[in-house]
Amino acid sequence: MLVSLWEQQVTPQLMMAVGTAVIGSLQFGYNTGVINAPQSIIENFYNETWSERFSEPISQTTLTALWSLSVAIFSVGGMFGSFSVCILANRFGRRNSMLVANVLAFVAAAFMGFSKLATSFEMLIIGRFVVGLYSGLSTGFVPMYIEEISPTSHRGALGTLHQLGVVLGILVAQIFGIESIMGNASLWPLLLGFTLLPAALQCIVLPLCPESPRYLLINCNEESKARSSETHTHTHTHTHTRANSRRVEAVMKFTDVHLLITSSFVTSREFNCCLPDLIKLRGTDDVSEDMQEMKEESQQMMREKKVTIPELFRSPVYRQPILVAIMLQLSQQLSGINAVFYYSTGIFERAGVSQPVYATIGAGVVNTAFTVVSLFVVERVGRRPLHLIGLMGMAVSSIFLTTAMALLDQFSWMSYVSIAAIFGYVAFFEIGPGPIPWFIVAELFSQGPRPAAIAVAGFCNWSANFLVGMCFQYVEQLCGPYVFIIFAVLLLGFFVFTYFKVPETNGRTFDEIAADFRLSAGQGADKYSAPEEFSTLRGDDPDL
Ligand code: GLC
Repeated sequence: MLVSLWEQQVTPQLMMAVGTAVIGSLQFGYNTGVINAPQSIIENFYNETWSERFSEPISQTTLTALWSLSVAIFSVGGMFGSFSVCILANRFGRRNSMLVANVLAFVAAAFMGFSKLATSFEMLIIGRFVVGLYSGLSTGFVPMYIEEISPTSHRGALGTLHQLGVVLGILVAQIFGIESIMGNASLWPLLLGFTLLPAALQCIVLPLCPESPRYLLINCNEESKARSSETHTHTHTHTHTRANSRRVEAVMKFTDVHLLITSSFVTSREFNCCLPDLIKLRGTDDVSEDMQEMKEESQQMMREKKVTIPELFRSPVYRQPILVAIMLQLSQQLSGINAVFYYSTGIFERAGVSQPVYATIGAGVVNTAFTVVSLFVVERVGRRPLHLIGLMGMAVSSIFLTTAMALLDQFSWMSYVSIAAIFGYVAFFEIGPGPIPWFIVAELFSQGPRPAAIAVAGFCNWSANFLVGMCFQYVEQLCGPYVFIIFAVLLLGFFVFTYFKVPETNGRTFDEIAADFRLSAGQGADKYSAPEEFSTLRGDDPDL
């Protein structure tokens, strides 16, 4: 029964659309993990280039600074990219924005791939920035697109596929980074330039995927609003506007799409805009449930004022969900996960592990395996419990890791405890803090404020990512084996916040979730005063 429901709702078209979008996540993961294994080889290239230019070897301080910059500038790109999500996704649509973003992946691949040939580490650094831009855009577009095209009951599982793409990308990068594959002095430019292939693949398949029906509906709504406000100013066309709004209102009353298709109101642009894509995704003409949900959401939207980023913070209705969204993103990054994915080879080395590259790959495998676990349990257990378990598990693993690193000199077998602690830390990360923050932001907001909220949340995520990438090596030099205690303390803080403030979103429609936040902000739907042009669409026009 469950299986047939899954098969009914998760159609090949839906999976193709999700799978193609997730190539963007794969790229993000690949470029997160790709600089880990070949660190010392690329540092050699920096050293040689430096010596050639300045006739003296590079100092350790400059090398650390240059390497930290090469790692962390990726997140600076991510910050800019994620902040632009809102503008692009609203203007060009979700699918087309993903398509166009690939230009950045091609440019980045060229810069990184030819940096050795041009004996320029600057080119590598620029390439990392550009691929960061691309990844920042992907971390907004992909979850937004997936959440918008998925049926409510599978949003969590399909949303987790974004993270699965990320972790597979990391794993592929770690494997390709083995010395005998591409992690060597002659092939590392190919390793970095590899980004070109997934970008080409996405460019070929994406045009065959449908646009998000929610985007199409909202977009058409916007056009109708614009049209109706235009006609308001011309009295001679007023009758036409009224007729038009009556027609829209009448269409809104249909819940059965079959009726809608055969009715004389089939010309209503709002629904015609998104029907073909929705039918394609669901693999059936009976999309009445989705339409009903989208209709409710769009009706709610018509009551809302347009939401800008500053308004997200000013309006009491959005203040709570945006705080939750930001804190969840911070909990993901300030857990210190990327200290592992950027620098684990060095961490394992210092923990006395003899084959650090293989231990790093082990971490990648555990990372992937537990993302799959999360995929299967997220709809059953819910977002909140998984996030809480993940944070607590990571805090405990950090304490184990610190103890093992501190006692390494006394007991050499502590290196095994370190490996186990890092594997545990990564496993708990993927149970909750890895996948959940990425897709829950789309769930916490209705269609109107969603792109702005995703941009803000993404920006915070990438800023924290930058902080960890840039500072970790320095803080580690200062704190030695105790560096992970900092993360343990932060993780416990995030646990407390999640326990008291994060609501469960599992199995609830976007509209229900938003309604709850409105209630807790003390604002019923009635407090939304509709802008004048919206009331025409709602049929509130006194002339009607
Ligand atoms: C999440 C994080 C990313 C991290 C990855 C590890 O996607 O956003 O920064 O590298 O998980 O699996």
